Amino acid sequence: MRLGTPLSPSATRVMLLGAGELGKEVIIALQRLGVEVIAVDRYANAPGHQVAHRAYVTDMSDGSALRALIEAEKPQLVVPEIEAIATETLLEIEAVGLAEVIPTARAANLTMNREGIRRLAAETLGLPTSPYVFADSLAELAAAANTLGYPVIVKPVMSSSGKGQSKIDDASQLGTAWDYASAGGRVNKGRVIVEGVIDFDYEITLLTVRAVGASGQVETHFCEPIGHVQVKGDYVESWQPQAMSAAALERAQEIAAAVTGNLGGRGIFGVELFVKGDTVWFSEVSPRPHDTGMVTMATQRQNEFELHARAILGLPVDVRLREPGASAVIYGGMEATGIAFDGVAEALRTPGVDLRLFGKPQAFARRRMGVALATADTPDAARRRAKDAAACVKPVKA
Ligand SMILES: Nc1ncnc2c1ncn2[C@@H]1O[C@H](COP(=O)(O)OP(=O)(O)O)[C@@H](O)[C@H]1O
Ligand SMILES: [Mg+2]
Repeated sequence: MRLGTPLSPSATRVMLLGAGELGKEVIIALQRLGVEVIAVDRYANAPGHQVAHRAYVTDMSDGSALRALIEAEKPQLVVPEIEAIATETLLEIEAVGLAEVIPTARAANLTMNREGIRRLAAETLGLPTSPYVFADSLAELAAAANTLGYPVIVKPVMSSSGKGQSKIDDASQLGTAWDYASAGGRVNKGRVIVEGVIDFDYEITLLTVRAVGASGQVETHFCEPIGHVQVKGDYVESWQPQAMSAAALERAQEIAAAVTGNLGGRGIFGVELFVKGDTVWFSEVSPRPHDTGMVTMATQRQNEFELHARAILGLPVDVRLREPGASAVIYGGMEATGIAFDGVAEALRTPGVDLRLFGKPQAFARRRMGVALATADTPDAARRRAKDAAACVKPVKA
């Protein structure tokens, strides 16, 4: 792809569907290559809105609104950053050649629903996953839990960041889990996936990049594995590299290659895997940068956002690690708009520490408002540094 001059007839235009903290970094990477960027989110002054050429507030689950915006802006590339999008419309847009959807409209469509990607991975590709059953009612949930055996994990088929997700140990908790899932799902309220619990040693995100190589063919590249800790289904810290046996790493790469190869297109994917000894299970995949991959802003020569920007534009990528590092999330801690942050200077006093404050207009107690990044000689030392730095930053009412 030839790159043009933004805001001129030669412009290379990219539209981000979703402009949160991950989209913001993708936009910055695209801006550096002189790409004209249009950022779309459901609320005003989203992080990515603040760094794009043009910003729109649109309900992206409304197919006709989404199509009208794409027709008006005529981006060459449409880049989903979130799951809650009218992906049927993306399929149409791709089919008529209005824009190219990254990585593919089918990938966005399959991964927005846990059922689509789980059936593809387990039933079509034959990859190892947790045992699972889908349920549409409390009675079906109870039957599913009996089939799988307690404990089980219940998740709305359409949800992310742990929303509506719970682990239940016995039948007395079925009702609560069902109500929680129904409230936490996006659409399709009332359909859940019930999964057996995998007793893993650790879990990883394997960032996998599909980019055009010198031969003109798409090649698959793997970043060093990222370890992470999840609390209630939401990531709180991550580090890179996660130590793994050679056999487990090879298996993880095989699984990631199989899933991303099937989804196709160009761009980065966050492949989530569970590992016990040399055994690896596929969990889920994001066809876009991954929240746990924010650590790569400290650790890699090209971070996951730069890798995505380059890959989608058809440019070469370099996935090499520079040094070990870690990330720790900074939460809002309160419900308020236009908050301030104390302790930033203190956090940055330690060499090897860096920060991102996302600029979200509104804070919630458990909303991710920023991230502390750190490098060190080992991932463990970096984790301590990142957590200490995150703890220094204190959200306060302005
Ligand atoms: N079947 C399972 N066995 C063990 N842990 C699980 C299982 N499913 C989810 N988890 C835990 O919950 C986290 C979030 O689940 P995930 O399916 O990735 O949901 P989300 O789409 O909200 O990220 C996982 O990273 C893992 O820590
Ligand atoms: Mg996940």
